[in-house]
Amino acid sequence: STEKLWGGRFTQTGAHWVDEFGASISFDQELAHEDLQGSLAHVKMLKKTAILPAADADQIIAGLEKLVEQLDQGKLKFTVENEDIHLNLEKILTDEIGPVAGKLHTARSRNDQVATDFHLYVKNRIPEVIAELKHLQSVIVTMAQENIETIMPGYTHMQHAQPISYAHYLLAYFDMFQRDVERFEFNMKHTNISPLGAAALAGTTFPIDREFSAKELGFDDVYHNSLDAVSDRDFALEFLSNASILMMHLSRFCEEVILWCTYEFNYLELSDQFSTGSSIMPQKKNPDMAELIRGKSGRVVGNLMGLLTVMKSLPLAYNKDMQEDKEGVFDTVKTILPSIKIFAEMLRTAHVHKEKMADATTNDFSNATELADYLASKEIPFRQAHEIVGKLVLQGLQTGTTLQNIPLDEYKKISPLIDEDIYHDLDSKVAVERRQSLGGTGFSQIKENITRAKKLIK
Ligand code: ARG
Repeated sequence: STEKLWGGRFTQTGAHWVDEFGASISFDQELAHEDLQGSLAHVKMLKKTAILPAADADQIIAGLEKLVEQLDQGKLKFTVENEDIHLNLEKILTDEIGPVAGKLHTARSRNDQVATDFHLYVKNRIPEVIAELKHLQSVIVTMAQENIETIMPGYTHMQHAQPISYAHYLLAYFDMFQRDVERFEFNMKHTNISPLGAAALAGTTFPIDREFSAKELGFDDVYHNSLDAVSDRDFALEFLSNASILMMHLSRFCEEVILWCTYEFNYLELSDQFSTGSSIMPQKKNPDMAELIRGKSGRVVGNLMGLLTVMKSLPLAYNKDMQEDKEGVFDTVKTILPSIKIFAEMLRTAHVHKEKMADATTNDFSNATELADYLASKEIPFRQAHEIVGKLVLQGLQTGTTLQNIPLDEYKKISPLIDEDIYHDLDSKVAVERRQSLGGTGFSQIKENITRAKKLIK
């Protein structure tokens, strides 16, 4: 037999460089805290069911509690020889309390152990992500409140389409982030279940109490099929998928921030804290943080693709391939938390050039729909009105006149029903205000949406 914890049936050990390839301790030490909690719940269950004598269980519990303290103080040392976090901690426990530590692994396998740790890890991180998202949403609501009457061009195909309120634009993102929150909340349902007690794959002959250990760990439920319990990584895939959609939202928002900070747009100016300079061009102020968040969406989507690809052909139950499930999830957590936080602060501290936004809607043709609607209200069929306005736009482009600069007698030639009030309707602010259809950009709708948003983030 060899020195490994599983060394009984072996006569030879692998070379160090082979062990190194197989080991996961370099990254799964991230699960040390969860692993100790899982072991504590397991041994308490072994005590409660009298599978272990109380005295042995108490010794193990005291030892594990000591390890928790040492972990918090950064005193635990892990080695590649002990392969992964589970075997490392068991080895340290053995050094601490002696051979009785060997009883901890009764009615348990590393397969349900690692699944338990990983569920706990994701379960503990989801609320952190939701809290960051809610903070971002609250920043958005505050800004929307300050910009109800800030008029800007709305775009389709990146062309001026119709004037909108900047608050309306911001609240569109509020709703996207709200769906992200709801997706993570749903993710919790599939994460908050205990695989512990599934053992290697088939359950165990010991009279264990899975509900007890699940409750100890704060799980709402247990897996009802032991094969599924040790092979399921859907909760991690859902987390990565939710994170990918969230990063896609942030990336779209960042793209607009970047564009709006250009000399050509100049709708926004980021605070110095969230900008960087150039080592050669003294005038530069670059929106690095927005670009980086846009870029980091790539790695999060990559993490999702990575795990989907690992899982897609795995037969039941545990396969070592599944050791590849962790790094992408850890990396995703470390990417999305600061991305949301930095984005919120960058947005909150940005200066909005309200005049620049409004100007962009006064000398353009984004009120062309207004004119067509006006004509339609004067008994001209909408299709015909559309054609008339199209021609006026073409003329205007050739002569450099906007629709509000066409004199009334010209308009009267189109229809004698046209009156002075046409200029009121052509005003971009009026155009925004009047779009009071449910969910439209009209100020009254925005105010209702702000009230709704505030309730959602309470
Ligand atoms: N380090 C392993 C992992 O991360 C733990 C489970 C190992 N189980 C096994 N039967 N080799 O997946």
